[in-house]
Amino acid sequence: MSHEHSQFHERLQAHDDVVINPSRNAPLTGLVNPARRHVLKGGLGLAALGFFAGGIGACRKVGTSPLLGFNSVPVQLDTNFDRVLLAQGYRAVPFFSWGDPVEPGAPAWKADASDDWQAQLKQAGDNHDGMNFFAFPGDDRRGLLVMNHEYVNPSLHPSGRIDQSRPRPLGEVRKEQAAHGVSIIEVKQAADGQWQRVMDSPYNRRISMLTPIRLAGPLAAHELMKTASDPRGLEVLGTLNNCATGVTPWGTFLTCEENWPNYFINRDQRDYAARVAHKRYGLACEGTSKNYAWETADPRFDATPHADQPYGGHVNEPNRFGWVVEIDPFDPQAQPIKRTAFGRFSRECAALSLGADGRMAFYSGDDARGEYLYKFVPSGRYDAADPQANRDLLDDGMLYVAQLAADGSGQWLALQHGQNGLSAEQGFASQAEVLVNARAAADHVGATPLDRPEWAAVHPQTREVYVTLTNNDERGDKQPVDKANPRPHNLHGQILRFQEQGNDPTATRFTWEIFLLAGEASGARGKDGKPVPANVTGTISGDLFSSPDGLAFDAAGRLWIQTDYDDREPAMHNMGCNQLLCADPVSREVRRFLVGPRGCEITGLAWSPDGRAMWANIQHPELSFPASDGKSRPRSTTLLITRVDGGVIGS
Ligand code: FEO
Ligand code: CA
Ligand code: CA
Ligand code: CA
Repeated sequence: MSHEHSQFHERLQAHDDVVINPSRNAPLTGLVNPARRHVLKGGLGLAALGFFAGGIGACRKVGTSPLLGFNSVPVQLDTNFDRVLLAQGYRAVPFFSWGDPVEPGAPAWKADASDDWQAQLKQAGDNHDGMNFFAFPGDDRRGLLVMNHEYVNPSLHPSGRIDQSRPRPLGEVRKEQAAHGVSIIEVKQAADGQWQRVMDSPYNRRISMLTPIRLAGPLAAHELMKTASDPRGLEVLGTLNNCATGVTPWGTFLTCEENWPNYFINRDQRDYAARVAHKRYGLACEGTSKNYAWETADPRFDATPHADQPYGGHVNEPNRFGWVVEIDPFDPQAQPIKRTAFGRFSRECAALSLGADGRMAFYSGDDARGEYLYKFVPSGRYDAADPQANRDLLDDGMLYVAQLAADGSGQWLALQHGQNGLSAEQGFASQAEVLVNARAAADHVGATPLDRPEWAAVHPQTREVYVTLTNNDERGDKQPVDKANPRPHNLHGQILRFQEQGNDPTATRFTWEIFLLAGEASGARGKDGKPVPANVTGTISGDLFSSPDGLAFDAAGRLWIQTDYDDREPAMHNMGCNQLLCADPVSREVRRFLVGPRGCEITGLAWSPDGRAMWANIQHPELSFPASDGKSRPRSTTLLITRVDGGVIGS
């Protein structure tokens, strides 16, 4: 995760260096399950949660990969597992939790969730997701940790409930909107080597569903973007369902809008059926919007056309979500920008591949059953010597979608008006229609439906592209099995590996293979109760897991895999609670590094430049994590993970 920041040197402002270490605020014993404390007393005597690795079960070395230098941890099948279990020799502390103060004047989080929406606007959002570390130019011991807050949990409110059966109180809706988006926090390595937050840094910033965001690229000021609230079509209020991320070579952060359709409704059945921009993305059309019924308090989320209002009211509001949003973390005054040239879908991520000549590709999954893999290739090249020339590189380029052939070859099909049958007669009057309706355009050109494409990651040395297909329990019903999606009722997912022709990120041809099939567990049963056929030769060696989701390479080329598996019955398929694993891309050996508390998803990874600190997110834990006292409200939390001996993580 090294980034090019030198061009921002001159723009950095003086800042205050006061450091407060949250790991001293949060008790180091906070992650200890009280029931196990006695075990430790006579034994290890240290209570940072990483030390549990040696205390629970036997760690074992499962293979011989020279890349993987730790012993694997066992699965955790206990439905009450409320801690984090790490490989032996590692420790983790809670570093940044929902509600922690971010912006100046933010109040301390209230454990009864009574903070109002103005407080939440300045505090950490909920459901920490993708994140990146941006080192300060010339100072690897200082950085900005930038992370997404994907959505909110009912525990956001004192009642612990979100009641969609009646009009939502506006104060609750505003608090939910404030808890979406992005946090930017400054971090610094103290003299003792520990990473800490800089609590009063001028870079500390929240971006939410209430932050004005500029529209740029082909859709800026387009008719499809105009609403009663924004007749110019130039500025959107907010970003939401921020899932995974990307970084640019010029040191900006890309946040990706995933499940935005769930926040809107169009009750006009005839209009809905005819409006591809709504129907193909699955907006609600009766009852309330799928997630939070915001439209009952905030009319912006009611996309039913209103002929008596300018631009039909808010019928175009959903068109303004599903984009890549570029944020300059080093300029707290800079307005975030939605880059519409990327196209619109339920976008997971925007993983960068940078060629030696400065040409780029950004890879993105569209996470729904049978959706596609995309890449965006900017027309221009990155120029390290001319920072200003890079500022709007993301506004012009070509969007492609992947078509995989059974023989392991494939091609990137251009989603470009006038090419591949994307004509006015087919419903694509201009490139704007192609981009707003990217899914329909991809249908039209013959893209390959995949088993829920989530994150992509690009190998830092080989430029191979890895993509998680998390699972697809309907594969075999609506879409036939094929070489890339080989299992019917695929409960456990797979990871694909792509190599661009000539190792060129901008190539239009590639080869692909299945890197691994997850969860070839004997005896696994689908939701129909029938055994899942283990009919495909698994390429995996090492530890079992299900539903790969988050994916990231470290600088040495270790592939880190994060899982999002439904662990309500952890013992059902012997997968246990969700995990962080590490794979050797050459030998394909996979080793389990961390297990999270039950109910959580492990997501988001970032490293310090020296690879000796790693941050990982525990998203939507269900028990009382991180307090683990059986009483406290669970909080999505960023962990800081280090090796007890100070070594490089994973090595
Ligand atoms: Fe936000 Fe598909 O994960
Ligand atoms: Ca995900
Ligand atoms: Ca997922
Ligand atoms: Ca998720």
